[in-house]
Amino acid sequence: MHFNAIEALPDDPILNLSRQFREDPRENKIDVGVGVYQNTSGETPVMRAVKAAEERLYQQQSSKKYLGLTGNEAFNQAMTRLVLGNDFDPSRVRANQSIAGTGALRLIAELLASLKPDATVWAPVPTWGNHIPIFRAAGLPVKPYPYYDTERCALDRDGFFAAMRELGENDVVILHGCCHNPSGEDLSEQDWQTLADIAAERGFLPVIDVAYLGFGKGLDADAYGLRLLAERLESVFIGVSCSKNFGLYRDRAGVALSVGANAQTADALQSHISALSRAMISMPADHGAAVVATILDNPELSQQWRDELDEMNRNIQRRRQELSAALNAYGSRDWSFIERQQGMFSLLPLGEKRVVELREQHGIYMVGAGRINLAGLRSIEASETLAAAIHR
Ligand code: LMR
Repeated sequence: MHFNAIEALPDDPILNLSRQFREDPRENKIDVGVGVYQNTSGETPVMRAVKAAEERLYQQQSSKKYLGLTGNEAFNQAMTRLVLGNDFDPSRVRANQSIAGTGALRLIAELLASLKPDATVWAPVPTWGNHIPIFRAAGLPVKPYPYYDTERCALDRDGFFAAMRELGENDVVILHGCCHNPSGEDLSEQDWQTLADIAAERGFLPVIDVAYLGFGKGLDADAYGLRLLAERLESVFIGVSCSKNFGLYRDRAGVALSVGANAQTADALQSHISALSRAMISMPADHGAAVVATILDNPELSQQWRDELDEMNRNIQRRRQELSAALNAYGSRDWSFIERQQGMFSLLPLGEKRVVELREQHGIYMVGAGRINLAGLRSIEASETLAAAIHR
């Protein structure tokens, strides 16, 4: 067996940007690429609550022996409550700890490929660059549905609901629970209610990606839509990441939540996911999950974490206002959508050619056709530099 005729694949479009940015010698370069929080010094520090939890773990953890196929139970329970709330019927939901949000989605994708091989997966246009590869890697066909109008910089509400009304029992719909990546454009509460009605009538299955819980209107408000769907529908799957809201990017903590009609179905789903996880990774890695469990199970640490998350959120919100004002000062179009949208990202109506020009001529690194990570704008000057470069 030889591999001499194999050609290398192109680099990952999001992750490759970070490397290019690091290698760029220009002093006034701006990194609004990969979805990582940065403070005003351009750092992504370990959260104080995480450090405190790690210290406790260091002192108290007495063994590193295996925990089991579903991972850290304290973490699974705490995350289930954080995401679904205290009022959700616990008998209908089971949790499998995963390798962050991607691992959760991959487990769900593999489960669907094995139990519902004829299903079609529908992904919003646009969506996170890894959604389509994850579901295709599991062998499922992925088709697009309209979501965001890149000209108007707003939800394509008519297109979205018309597409949902066409779906049926064999369809799986990828939804962003909050802080849509890359557009920052979320469904309103009214939209979620309409979607729940349509899903109940048409019978399709929502798979909800929750990677930015707490970066929109707050932890509970951001979970409004997923909680409504879990309450109203027989089955829902939720992939949750702790990478951003706990700043645990490289520790890969996450969970796959399976919601079924009753305890028996939920148990069966969990057993299938556990078997798939066993074949992929045997058991999930514990450290990040143990940190999250330590925080969420301790009222003091939990409050500290919530305060830090709020602080990150306020900073991003301020950067949204500053960039929106800096762009509006040119009077070229109405850029206020940036202020209205939520989470780390907005999608600027630029197009790939201008994104490349901004990178080559001005050292401004953004993703795809104009996705910016607002957290990368460290100062008001950075927003003004970006606005000026766009208008030049
Ligand atoms: C992003 O969208 O930038 C992040 O979720 C990082 C990633 O893995 O793509």
